[in-house]
Parts: sequence; C-alpha cells; structure tokens
Amino acid sequence: MKVLVVGGGGREHALIRKIKESDKVDSIACCPGNGGISYDADCYNVSATDIDGVVKLAKEIKADFVVVAPDDPLVMGMVDALNKEGFKTFGPNAAAAIIEGSKVFSKNLMLKYGIPTAEYKVFDNPADVITYLKEKNEFPAVIKADGLALGKGVIIPETLEEAEAGVKEIMEDKIFGASGNNVVVEEFLTGPEVSVLAFTDGKCVRPMVSSMDHKRALDGDKGLNTGGMGTVSPNPYYTDEIAQECMEKIFIPTINAMNSEGRAFKGCLYFGLMLTPKGPKVIEYNCRFGDPETQVVLPRLKTDIMDIFEAINNETLSQLDIEWSNDSCACVIMASGGYPKSYPKGIEINGLCNGQLDGVTVYHAGTAVKDGKLLTSGGRVLGVTALGDNLESALEKAYGGVSQISFDGAHYRKDIGRKALNALK
Ligand code: AMP
Ligand code: GLY
Repeated sequence: MKVLVVGGGGREHALIRKIKESDKVDSIACCPGNGGISYDADCYNVSATDIDGVVKLAKEIKADFVVVAPDDPLVMGMVDALNKEGFKTFGPNAAAAIIEGSKVFSKNLMLKYGIPTAEYKVFDNPADVITYLKEKNEFPAVIKADGLALGKGVIIPETLEEAEAGVKEIMEDKIFGASGNNVVVEEFLTGPEVSVLAFTDGKCVRPMVSSMDHKRALDGDKGLNTGGMGTVSPNPYYTDEIAQECMEKIFIPTINAMNSEGRAFKGCLYFGLMLTPKGPKVIEYNCRFGDPETQVVLPRLKTDIMDIFEAINNETLSQLDIEWSNDSCACVIMASGGYPKSYPKGIEINGLCNGQLDGVTVYHAGTAVKDGKLLTSGGRVLGVTALGDNLESALEKAYGGVSQISFDGAHYRKDIGRKALNALK
C-alpha cells in the first residue's frame, strides 16, 4: 500500500512513524512534510490546504490511502474532494468537521443533545458582548471566536478592559478573519484538563489512551497559550470510573448527535475535557488528532494503524480489537526563541543524526534540511518523546534527550508531567 499523509508537523511525523510499522505499507508520502519527516517519507511541496493540489498529487503518486491530519483542510472539504475521486481516506468530511470548524455549531449541538459543557451565549456584535459582560460582571470570562484561529481564538480576560480589548481584536480588527464574525461567551470552568482522542466510524467509538497537554509557554502554566509545549500519557486524573462516565454521557451521545444531524463523523474525534466539580464537561471538540497529544498516544498503540484506518473507512470498527501498551509516554517540545510570538527561522540544530537520537524518538514539527544541515523552520521545532515503565522514567528519558539537543534560542518547559506526577502521589 502507498499511503499519503497530508500535513507537516509533529503530529504528522508521529502518524507516519506509526504507519511505517504496518506490514501493509510499502511506501509513505507526505505533503508538505518537513525536514525530519523527509527521513521517513517522500515529501512533496504541496500545501496542506491546497485541495486541488493534494488530489492531483494523490493521483500522480497513485496513493492507495490518504490521511488528512490538520483541521483546515478537513473543514475545507479535502476528504470530500478525495472521496469524489475514489480515494480511500482517513478524516471526517466537511459536514462532520464543522464540529471543530464552528464553536457556535458545537455548543448548539451539545445544548440540543444534553452533552455536558459550559453554559454559553452566542453574539454577532461586539457592543452586545460588552453589555452582557458588564451586566454579568463575572471574571474571568471566556470568549471564543466561532471559527478556526490556529488554536489562538480563546481569550480568558480577568477584567472588563481586557475583555473589551480582546473582543475588539476578534470582532472588529478581525485578527482571525471571518472566524471572528460570531463569538461564544461561556462560563469559566475549573478542574484538571484531559485530552481524549477517539477513533470512530460513525457507528462505534473507540477512545484511545488519555493524555495531558501543557498549553502555556512557560513553567507553572504561565505565559501565553501555545499549540502545546508537551504532553504525557496516560493522564492520571482520567480514572476508569471517569472514563466510563465520559463514554456514557459524552462520547456515545456525541456520535449519536452527529448522526442525528446527518453529519456522521468518521476519523479521529478529539474530546478536550475538563473534570469539573460537577463532572466531566466538554471544553472543545477537534475533528482530528491533537498535536502534541498524538506524539504520546500513538507510541502506545499496538494494533496495526492501517487496520484501524481501513475499518473506519469500511465502517467495521466494531469488529476490531484495539490494543494499547501499559507504558507511559512523555513528549517535551523544544521551541524557537520567541515562540508563540515571532521567532527566527533557519537556525542550525545540533545533536541529531539523521534527525534522530538514541534512546528517544524525535518527532519533527518545524525543521528543514538544507545543504545537509538540519535547521529550524517553525515555532514548535521538535517533540522529544520517550516511553517508560512509568511516567517518571518516560520523563527522565525525554529530558535526557532534550539535554543532548541544542539550537540558538531554544526554549522548552522544565515541568512537563509535574502536575501528573503530583496527582499520582
Ligand atoms: P480551547 O481552544 O477551546 O481548547 O481553549 C483553550 C484553553 O482555554 C483550554 O485548554 C482551557 O484551558 C481554556 N478554556 C477554554 N474554555 C474554558 C472554560 N469554559 N473555562 C475555563 N477554561 C477554559
Ligand atoms: N493540543 C491541542 C490541539 O491539538 O488542539
């Protein structure tokens, strides 16, 4: 089988590494990929959002299966376009990807079907948002742009002034374009956060092992929100009992709700959960694998991932047993100096041989190979990842790897997994 993976970050690298383990796969292509991915797959210079370009590439290389990993092409309908040309795919169609593409859609869905989430109100003009926040006078408030915003569309203002500034940026200055035409204002929830990715063929839902993201840029959950500075799996807060409750109250009802709306979801559905004092609630849905959650979840997958993808494509997932290892896994992101604000590119990375290092797996998020040298090319650069018998040993190995890799300005959090370790005590 020839598999084409669309995307070019750490998540795609983790997917490609897992696909490479499959007996059924002869070769892997990736577009656009990145420097580190080029050691594992043939990279083609086609943008992940170029629907016509990806369909053309899939035809040219005669792909047997296409995995569409990022949110934008899914929401734009890349899977629909590929299916129309007869390609087998992994990922939801546009009708289902709206569960991530519109927060207004997902909040209304949860309300309609009784799926636990924060209380909310939808607004289409900035003055009404401010009037509402003034009347309510409860801070922190949570304000979310309706559409996709590179993971930056959520603001949690502590004061009315901060809220006014944020609403202006989203709804008037349109820093996220049309994504800010509508906003959702919702209740501020508290509790540990858990990421649960789930395979679903629209009929049955198979949650993967849980994980914990670390979204803030700096130690102690300080600094700006990022795409994620590191992950661990499993998430110790996510007990078997809570998993059972989520299955009954959130996972199955969501799959059923999407079916009832005529939007059967096939692919990986990401549940961003908060374990509040009133029970687990949905913070967000994503229509795809999380990044960097995938980097700690897939290393624990024992079943051939192509068997899972085929079963989802054929809607026979219920007939497949999916096995996971009992190991723990940790991923520490090494980022460019300045990230998540502006950062330099093209800085040489030292310490790796063919993009890898003994004892860990290095998933490449933003790297390029030029004249035989490995250079930085993005904000998140590397995800240094290790499995261990327990979380402590996985973290020790991952940080051991980090200490052997260097590039000018590199920054990483020193406390990935600390909260999880404390929860285990
Ligand atoms: P999202 O992009 O929806 O995952 O939001 C980004 C982050 O904002 C989440 O990981 C939470 O930490 C935080 N957040 C989102 N919604 C809420 C909420 N209703 N209450 C408290 N924190 C929230
Ligand atoms: N790590 C969060 C996300 O993938 O959206």
